[in-house]
Amino acid sequence: MNRKFASLVVLIALFSQCGIPKKESAEARAKAMLSKMTLEEKAGQMTQLSIEMISQGQGYDLVKPHALDTNKLKEVIVNLGVGSILNVGGHTYPIAHWKEIITSVQNYASQTRLQIPVLYGIDAIHGANYTQGSTLYPQQIALAASFNPALAKQMARLVAKDVEGSGIPWNFSPVLDVARNPLWPRFWETFGEDPYLASQMGVAMVEGYQEKGANGRSMAACLKHYVGYGNPANGHDRTPAYIPERQLREIYLPPFANAIKAGAKTIMINSGEWNGEPVHASKFLLKTILRDELKFKGVTVTDWEDIKNLTERHHIAATYKEAVALAINAGIDLAMVPLDLEYTKYLIENVKEGAVTETRINEAVLRILTLKYELGLFDEPYTEANSFVEPGSKESLDLSYELATQSIVLLKNNNSALPLAAGEKVLVTGPNANYINALNGGWTHTWQGRDTAYNPVVPTIKEALNLALPTASYLGGNTYTQHLPEASLLAAANGYSTVVLCLGEDTYTEKPGDINDLELDAAQQDLIRIYKNAGKKVVLVLVEGRPRTFTKSEALCDAILYAALPGNSGATAIADILVGKVNPSAKLPFSFPMYGATHSTYDCKYTELLNNDFKPAGYNALFEFGHGLSYTQFAYSKFSMDKRELGKQDSIQAHVTITNTGTRAGSEIVLLYSTDVVASITPSVKRLRSFTRVDLQPGESKQVDMKLAASDLSFVGLQNKFILEPGKFYFNVAQLKDSVNITN
Ligand code: BGC
Repeated sequence: MNRKFASLVVLIALFSQCGIPKKESAEARAKAMLSKMTLEEKAGQMTQLSIEMISQGQGYDLVKPHALDTNKLKEVIVNLGVGSILNVGGHTYPIAHWKEIITSVQNYASQTRLQIPVLYGIDAIHGANYTQGSTLYPQQIALAASFNPALAKQMARLVAKDVEGSGIPWNFSPVLDVARNPLWPRFWETFGEDPYLASQMGVAMVEGYQEKGANGRSMAACLKHYVGYGNPANGHDRTPAYIPERQLREIYLPPFANAIKAGAKTIMINSGEWNGEPVHASKFLLKTILRDELKFKGVTVTDWEDIKNLTERHHIAATYKEAVALAINAGIDLAMVPLDLEYTKYLIENVKEGAVTETRINEAVLRILTLKYELGLFDEPYTEANSFVEPGSKESLDLSYELATQSIVLLKNNNSALPLAAGEKVLVTGPNANYINALNGGWTHTWQGRDTAYNPVVPTIKEALNLALPTASYLGGNTYTQHLPEASLLAAANGYSTVVLCLGEDTYTEKPGDINDLELDAAQQDLIRIYKNAGKKVVLVLVEGRPRTFTKSEALCDAILYAALPGNSGATAIADILVGKVNPSAKLPFSFPMYGATHSTYDCKYTELLNNDFKPAGYNALFEFGHGLSYTQFAYSKFSMDKRELGKQDSIQAHVTITNTGTRAGSEIVLLYSTDVVASITPSVKRLRSFTRVDLQPGESKQVDMKLAASDLSFVGLQNKFILEPGKFYFNVAQLKDSVNITN
C-alpha cells in the first residue's frame, strides 16, 4: 500500500472507529482505549518482541540483506497484537530501510481491531548508531569527562532527531547506573562513579531526548538499568550485587530519582540481582521505591529475556509461566520478551487462573497506551510528516568533535612532553592507532561494535595525527596481546625521538566484555618499557572504556591522554590535542585505579585512607576522580562560602576566583566538594556538590559562583532516609577550604 494513503486510512479509521477525541489528554484517550480492549489485546500491548521475530531468517541469524517476513508480521503484529518491537537484526541499516520497516510494522498494526500503533525502541546510545551515516558521538563515560551537561543535552537533541528521523520514537538511553567497579564491562556506558555528576548529565540527556521538536513531537528516553547494576561483586556482567539499602539510596538511586523528576517516560530494569533478589521480581524496588517514593508514572520495561531468566538464570521460578506472574506482580509493565511467542500466552493464562489480577494488567496497559498517545503515535504512526534532518549534518559533526575535544583527559604531562612540536619526529603505534572501532566501542553499527564492514570514512588516530603533524609515521603489527619482536620495534623507531602509543581495549559490551584481571595486557605494557628503555619520549593515548591498571608502566610514560571512547571525531580530537591545536580540559569522572584488588572510589571513608603503618595516605588511585591537566595553568583564590551558618531550609553560594596564569587560553572545570566533619553514619572523605566550566584567556581572572541547598548535604541515615544533621562541614575547591555550620 502507498504509504501516504496508508496514513490517511489509518487517520480516518482511528477517528471514526475508536471515536476518541484528539483534544483529550493522553491519559484520558488511553483510558477510553483501554475500556474497549479484550484481555488478549491487553496482553499483546504488554509484549515487546525483537525485529528478529518479524524478519526473514532465524533469531540472531537473519537473511541478508535484511527483509521483513510478511507471515511473521501477520502472526506477531496482527494475530498476537504485539505492542512493541525493538532492535536491529544484527547490524545498522540505511535510513530508507528504517522507514520501510516502521511503515510496514504500522501498516500491519492498522489491520488490528483497535489499530493501536506499535512502539518501536532502539539502543541509540551515542548517536543513531543503528542508522547508517549518522554522527557517532563520544560514549557516556567520555561525555561525563567533559563535565558539560549543556553539550550533552544538545547532543541528545540531535540524536533524537536522527533516531526519530529513522521512524523510531523510543531510545533505550541514558544509562544511569553508577559505575563503582571498573571491571564491569558496561563501565563505559555510564557517567562514572559519582551520583551527582551522573544525575546532572542524566537529566541533561533526558531533557535533550524528550524536548519537543519543530513538529511538536518528542521521543521517549529510557533510564537504565534500574537499579544497582553498576557494582557486581565479581565485576562480571549480570552477576550478583550486594549493596546495603543505605548505599543504594545514597549512591545508586539519585540519578534515577533526578531523571524521573525531569520527566523521563520509561525505565528499563536491571538484569542482575540485588542482595539475592532479581530486580525483575522485586516489589520493593519496582513498587515501593519506584512508584510510591520516586512517583514514577511511566512505563517499566524488562531487559532482554529477563522474565524467562527468572527461571533459566536466577532459579527463583520453577516455570516460565510462574516467572511471568512474579515479574508482572512485582511491577513490570512491558516485557522485552523478545524471542518467543510463549510470554503473551502465559500472561493471559495467569490472569485467567487468578495468578495476576486484571487490575494490574490495566495499570500496565494504561501506562503503555498513555505513552503511545503522548508520543503522538496514534495521530501519526508513520514518519513522513516528520521534518527531521538526515543524519550526519554539519551541526552534529561539529558537536561530536567539540564533545570529543572536551572529553579527552590529559592525565600526565612531565616536562611539557605535550604538545608535540612542529617537525617532531614521532612514531605512532599500538593496537588502537589505526582502528576506528575502538574509538566508538560497543553499540556501534552492531551490538559489539566490532564489525568493520559498516565503518564510515573517518580518520584513525595515525591518519589524523599524520594530517596534523606530517613528520609522524606509523608502525602497524602490534596487537592487544602481542607485540612485534623487540628488535623490529626498535629498528622502526630509529631516528624518531617520540613514540605515541595508542593502547587500551578492543570493543565490547555486556557479557562478552567480562574480564578476570583489570591489568592492561602485558604485551601493551611491554611497548612502554621497550621504548622508554630505548630513550624515547613515550606518549600514551589510552583508548578504553574502563581504566585498565598499568601502575608500574605509568611511571615510564612522559605524557598520558585518556581518550575513553571518543566516537568518530575522536581521532581528530586526539591529534589536535597532541599537537596543541586544542587545549585539553576534561577531568576524570572516575578514580583510575592504582591496584585492581584494593580499589576505592573518591568518596571513600576515612578508614580506607589508612596505610598499614596506621598513617593516613591518600586514597590509592593512580589518578584521582576529577584529575585532568591543561596546557595552561590555573590559580584558585578568594574562595569563600557566603554564609557561616546555614539553616536546614537555606541555600548557600560558593565564590571562587580562577585565574589563567599560563600563556594560552583554556577551560577549567571547577569542582566544589564538601566534607561532613562528624556524622552518625561514617562520612565520606569528600563528596562532589557542584561543578562548572570556565573559559579563560591568558592572564584573565573570573569569579565563579556555585549555589547549593543545605539539603544537598544530606545523607542516608540509620533509618535509611535522607537526613541533614547539624554541625560543621568543610567545603573545598582545589586546595582552598572554607567551613560552614549547619544549624538546627
Ligand atoms: C541490554 C540493554 C539494551 C537491551 C536491548 C540488553 O541486553 O542490557 O541495555 O537496551 O539489550 O538491546
